[in-house]
Amino acid sequence: MIQSFYRTTTHSWRSQVWALRIMRLWLGATWIYAGWDKATDPGFLTPGASSFIGTHLSGYSTQSPIALALNKMIEHSVAVGVFVMISEFTIGLATLLWVAPTTAAFGGFSMSVGLWLASSFHANPYFLASNSVYAILWLSYLLMIRNKRKGFTMSFERRGVLRIGIIAALSAIFTGAGKFFSLALIQESAQASAKTKIVKLASLKVGATKKFAVANGAPAILFRTKTGVFAYLAICTHQGCTVNYSATSKTLKCPCHGAEFNPYASGKVITGPATNPLGKVKVAIEGAWVILV
Ligand code: FES
Repeated sequence: MIQSFYRTTTHSWRSQVWALRIMRLWLGATWIYAGWDKATDPGFLTPGASSFIGTHLSGYSTQSPIALALNKMIEHSVAVGVFVMISEFTIGLATLLWVAPTTAAFGGFSMSVGLWLASSFHANPYFLASNSVYAILWLSYLLMIRNKRKGFTMSFERRGVLRIGIIAALSAIFTGAGKFFSLALIQESAQASAKTKIVKLASLKVGATKKFAVANGAPAILFRTKTGVFAYLAICTHQGCTVNYSATSKTLKCPCHGAEFNPYASGKVITGPATNPLGKVKVAIEGAWVILV
């Protein structure tokens, strides 16, 4: 079995022209790296973390042409995150090892189109949207291997189920290993990057709030208490409506279906239908300013 797997993989590499090998290597390795990047991110599946998949979906939903679909996904963020991560590993491994290669290429193409519509549809100029470039690359690769595969399709398909099983097992191992490494990276990932001034500390009284926007334009809300400052994405984790602060109830309320969040307890849900806490936004006091970190 292993020998047959090895033979199929090596034959596939040997029988391809260099242009195809380069595309295949780049696409396969990039997809594995994308999965690994998510698997080793301690916040990717952690509701409330700034790198949480739900926080990304919330941000994307403010300006994407598929906002409706993204809003539906927000309340299932963890499942969506796991699906994306496993899919990336599976597509990358299947591409490099030549397991169901056309299906893998179609998966890579579909994922790139989805990411382009979700996150970089409005990139200007358009060629800065790497997802659209990857969509074209996957499509070209798919068309090329479809023509090339006519010769040895039958012998390849016979043990297809077992090979796909191996790919699934490898994807699960990669995901597990990534999560293991992520524990060691928690401190590192907490490092701040670019800092943007939000408001002068003196103009934000204790007990006051301020609306602002994070880098991708998503609405956020800043709080100042006796102990410091903190902020949340003002995007409901149910289906993406904008939440507002109610000074009467001291909660963040969603006007769409009535969810309420407690800003003084890590943004946790007080009243459903939302189930996940609001996404946190990292802010800090630096000199006379409150900054986005
Ligand atoms: S979007 Fe449904 S409760 Fe907020």
